[in-house]
Amino acid sequence: MGVPGVTMEKFAFVFHPLDVADVARKYSFTRFLPPKVVEGALKLMSPKKVSHITGVRSAYAEAEGWFVSCPLTARQIMSLPAEYVLKKVVQAGQVAERLGARILGLGAFTKVVGDAGLSVAKALNIPVTTGNSYTVATAVEGTKEAARLMGYDLAEASVAIVGATGAIGRVCAELLSRETRNMTLVGRDVPKLELVADRILYKTGLAARISTDLKKTLTAADIIITVTSAVDAVIEPEYLKPGAVICDVARPRDVSRRVAEERPDVLVIEGGVVAVPGDVNFNFNFGFPPKTAYACMAETMVLALERRYESFTLGRELTTERVEEIAGLARKHGFKLDGFRSFERAFGEVEIEKVKEAARKVLQKS
Ligand SMILES: NC(=O)c1ccc[n+]([C@@H]2O[C@H](COP(=O)([O-])OP(=O)(O)OC[C@H]3O[C@@H](n4cnc5c(N)ncnc54)[C@H](OP(=O)(O)O)[C@@H]3O)[C@@H](O)[C@H]2O)c1
Repeated sequence: MGVPGVTMEKFAFVFHPLDVADVARKYSFTRFLPPKVVEGALKLMSPKKVSHITGVRSAYAEAEGWFVSCPLTARQIMSLPAEYVLKKVVQAGQVAERLGARILGLGAFTKVVGDAGLSVAKALNIPVTTGNSYTVATAVEGTKEAARLMGYDLAEASVAIVGATGAIGRVCAELLSRETRNMTLVGRDVPKLELVADRILYKTGLAARISTDLKKTLTAADIIITVTSAVDAVIEPEYLKPGAVICDVARPRDVSRRVAEERPDVLVIEGGVVAVPGDVNFNFNFGFPPKTAYACMAETMVLALERRYESFTLGRELTTERVEEIAGLARKHGFKLDGFRSFERAFGEVEIEKVKEAARKVLQKS
């Protein structure tokens, strides 16, 4: 039930299983099936409503929404023909339209495939947003806060951005380049890296280094934002300096789970965990604590609450202006970073102190 006299804003958000293990969490019998069979079955399924999201409420407006599934794993989204995948994402968007949504957010790999939402928006009657502007805002804010708690002075620390040629990585690099004197952009494609470095030099005056040698760069980095679209982990424990801070924005994650097991002396946080205002119930467990969401989901909710029914973030050309605008709107409606999470669990100041202590011990020994 809405508040009398207050219109109910409406949004939807598309997501998909990241891998076959995710499918098994919903349909437990599938854990006994070979991954190829599970993925084959997903291809036969149509997008559908997964849950009704209620209770999103700010001081200014109220919204409800729906999760809609796009039944394909990350691996399938990245390896099947883009036209096939886009058709399925559009079908998910049509489910959202029929439910009454006035804006659609694209989750995980549904926004990485093809032209990052542009063709999906063209094929639908409602606006579409990738949520990437707010993802960048929260990743940068979270990284700065984590670095401060670990005792780094951002201006002096050595910063690395992994996946710096990507949509999210490039803008994270641009924003952090205003505050550090020592930045390395890491990627696989030198000409693309040079373009990003030139743009940073032009906009902020910082001469960022570029590198295609991930391991060598990371062994010297204090603060890392990693945001590649690699399907498997790209950062292993032996790449990292004691006391390093890593913000892993990628889904699936870039940082290998082995880092959690073998490196108590480094701090890995997940980008973009956001507290949602009101008494939100997602009616679906996507692995976050109650009343919190991914930043990209939050961007869709903020736009609905603000009645900004427009394709706010689309394509790969993110801008620092949009990032700052959505961060301001999110603040206005009461969205905020909700502490840190690391490998799916809450990570507070006590845990961060333990990381600092472990780093101190490693450094004393060496
Ligand atoms: N946490 C959240 O709320 C949230 C929100 C949005 C997106 N994301 C995640 O963010 C990631 C990136 O999204 P995006 O939109 O920025 O993607 P994008 O524009 O496609 O950029 C991907 C970047 O990853 C690099 N890359 C791809 N495969 C790689 C590999 N095997 N090794 C090293 N680098 C590799 C690409 O480098 P090349 O130039 O060499 O190809 C490119 O720089 C995805 O994992 C996505 O799911 C998370």
